[in-house]
Amino acid sequence: MTPTGSAVTAALRTIDANLAEFGDRYPGDTTVDDRYRLRLGTGGNVGWTTSFWPGMLWLAHDLTGDERYRRAALGHVRSFADRVESGTDIDTHDLGFLYTLSCVLPWRSTGDRPARRAALAAADHLLTRVLEPAGIIQAWGDMRDPRQQGRTIIDSLMNTPLLFWASETTGDPRYAAAARRHTTQLRDHILRPDGTTFHTFYWDPRTGEPVRGETEQGNSDESCWARGQAWGIYGFALNHRYTGDPSFLRASRRCADYFLAHLPADGVAYWDLEFTDGSGEERDSSAAAIAVGGLLELAALAGAEADRYRAAAGRILDSLIAGYATAGHPSSNALLRHGVYDKPKGIGVDEGTLWGDYFYLEALTRAVRPDLPRHW
Ligand code: GLY
Repeated sequence: MTPTGSAVTAALRTIDANLAEFGDRYPGDTTVDDRYRLRLGTGGNVGWTTSFWPGMLWLAHDLTGDERYRRAALGHVRSFADRVESGTDIDTHDLGFLYTLSCVLPWRSTGDRPARRAALAAADHLLTRVLEPAGIIQAWGDMRDPRQQGRTIIDSLMNTPLLFWASETTGDPRYAAAARRHTTQLRDHILRPDGTTFHTFYWDPRTGEPVRGETEQGNSDESCWARGQAWGIYGFALNHRYTGDPSFLRASRRCADYFLAHLPADGVAYWDLEFTDGSGEERDSSAAAIAVGGLLELAALAGAEADRYRAAAGRILDSLIAGYATAGHPSSNALLRHGVYDKPKGIGVDEGTLWGDYFYLEALTRAVRPDLPRHW
């Protein structure tokens, strides 16, 4: 078997064990000492990462065709429908991450109408987070919270596919228009002239003027947080796919070129791109896995440069398989080790992460089944 084939087999073995352990409940955002436990003790559907668990089940179904995974993935729709109906922990732009994987996928795959309804309710709620006159989608918290007002973050580029889908499925152009305006603002302000990105950026809520960049999870306001840069590669490329806007494709390529030029010898980024070999800092394997997805998206779009981006994606994925996957560490129930959630706050440092696992499995799936429809 090829190393990729063995990696898929090992990943599915871990997913089977996690299905037995977690079922329709949710593991935490990250492992603790390399093991996921039930989220906040009870496994409830809160936070921004719960959809990565059903997302992995959909990937397992893509890889195997096994009905067991599809049934298990569909079993999560009810929880996400309840969450949006009850307004539980939905004051966030992460509704895109949450509802694309948990509800848009089942709608696309099986025509599940409750899933479509829940995803549209989430898209409607996301529209309430558009802040005028800036035309950005506020990232976090109550829209009147002075600390959060006018702030968006690079990760939000992965949330706009929910809005593009909502326009496609309803014929109502408002969702896609909001997504495009938001992405245009990020292109102009969160992406710096040297191809790096701010993690977060504020607009004046009254005038709509761009104000300043700031970090939350990077090493400093001026440095380049590795996962943010990876979200930029993938997110701008997806926004280009939905709009055809060539400036979004250029933005994705600029993010990619900087990211690739600042990788250590094994191709797996340190948690902030200002660190490299010898720094003693931790890697963020999740940034690497996300970047693979973005680079493959670019490889599908970027004409003459496609081979370069495809080769870079392959090199990073091979390195994740060889040095970061848990196949040789059966004591872990993650797919990938050595991720970092939030180093400045000391949360999830050098641990498995639910999103890193999802994007690693997505990358493996794309490597062995490039013909399958995309999830985003
Ligand atoms: N989207 C939050 C993070 O990447 O940590």
